[in-house]
Amino acid sequence: MRLKDKVAIVTGSGQGIGRGIAERFAQEGARLVIADKNETTLHKAEAELKALGGEVLAVQVDVSQSDPIAALFQSVLSTFGTVDVLVNNAAWAVPTAHFLDMTEDFWDTVLRTNLKSVFLCSQHAARIMADQKKPGSIVNISSFGALRAHREMSAYDAAKGGIESMTRAMAVDLAPWRIRANAVGPGLTATPAVTDYLPTPEQQKRLLDTVPLERLGQPSDVAAAVLFFASDDASYVTGQILYVDGGVVAQLRPAVMERHHKRPQ
Ligand SMILES: NC(=O)c1ccc[n+]([C@@H]2O[C@H](COP(=O)([O-])OP(=O)(O)OC[C@H]3O[C@@H](n4cnc5c(N)ncnc54)[C@H](O)[C@@H]3O)[C@@H](O)[C@H]2O)c1
Repeated sequence: MRLKDKVAIVTGSGQGIGRGIAERFAQEGARLVIADKNETTLHKAEAELKALGGEVLAVQVDVSQSDPIAALFQSVLSTFGTVDVLVNNAAWAVPTAHFLDMTEDFWDTVLRTNLKSVFLCSQHAARIMADQKKPGSIVNISSFGALRAHREMSAYDAAKGGIESMTRAMAVDLAPWRIRANAVGPGLTATPAVTDYLPTPEQQKRLLDTVPLERLGQPSDVAAAVLFFASDDASYVTGQILYVDGGVVAQLRPAVMERHHKRPQ
C-alpha cells in the first residue's frame, strides 16, 4: 500500500499504459482520478477499477485544451480536496508524418497534445501542492523516441525530448516546495497504440528482433517504475529519466545484425 490515501491523477488512463498505471495505483491504496478524452474506455476502466475496491473519480477531458484541464483540477479539488501525485501519460501515441510532408497544423496538434498538456497539467498540480504546502510527485511519460528517432515521427520525438528537458527544469524549480518531477520512458509496450499500428504477428516479430530482452513491455512494467517515482521510496529522487525498454537504448545494433550472437542453450 505504497500510495495509501494519496490522491493520484493519471491522464490517458482509459486504456494502455495509463490504464495499467491506474490499476497498480488502485492496488497500492491510492484515491484515484482517471482522466481520458475517450468516454467509452474511460467508463469501462472506471467500472473495472472500482471493482478493485478503491475510490475512483473518472473525468472526461481533452488535455490538448486548457479549459477542460482547469475543469479537471476543479473537480479533483471539489471531490478529494488535494492532489499528491500527477502522472502525465495522455498523448497521441503514433502520429506519423514524414518530415517533408508534415503540415504546420499537424506539428501544432502533436505539440499541444503531447507537450503543452504536460506543462498545463503540471502547473495546475504544482500550484495546488505549493499552496497547500504539501510535498508531491509528478511523473511524466516520455518515450525512447526522446533519445532515438522513430521514422516519420519527428513531432512526437520532439515533444518527448521536450518532456525530458521540462522534467529536469520542473524538478529544479519545484524542489524548494518538495515537489519532485521525474519521467519514465517506455520502450515498445503492448498497448492498443502498438497492436493497432502493427496488426500482424510478422510486423511485431520484426520489431521484437530489435529488443535485447526479446519481448514487448507490458503496461505493468511501466507502472512499476512510475509507482517508484510516485511513492516515498523515491523521496530523494528528482529530475531523473528511467527507461523501461527491454534494453533498446543501451544497444548499438540489433542482435540479428551481429556476427557473433551467443545464446543460452
Ligand atoms: N506503447 C508504447 O510502445 C509506448 C512507447 C513509448 C512511449 N509511450 C507513451 O506512453 C503513453 C501511453 O501510450 P499508450 O501506448 O498507452 O497509448 P494508447 O493510445 O493506447 O493510450 C493513450 C490514451 O490517452 C488518451 N488520450 C489521447 N489523447 C488525449 C487527449 N488529448 N486528452 C486526453 N486523453 C487523451 C487516449 O484516449 C488513450 O486512452 C503515451 O505518452 C505514449 O507516448 C508508449
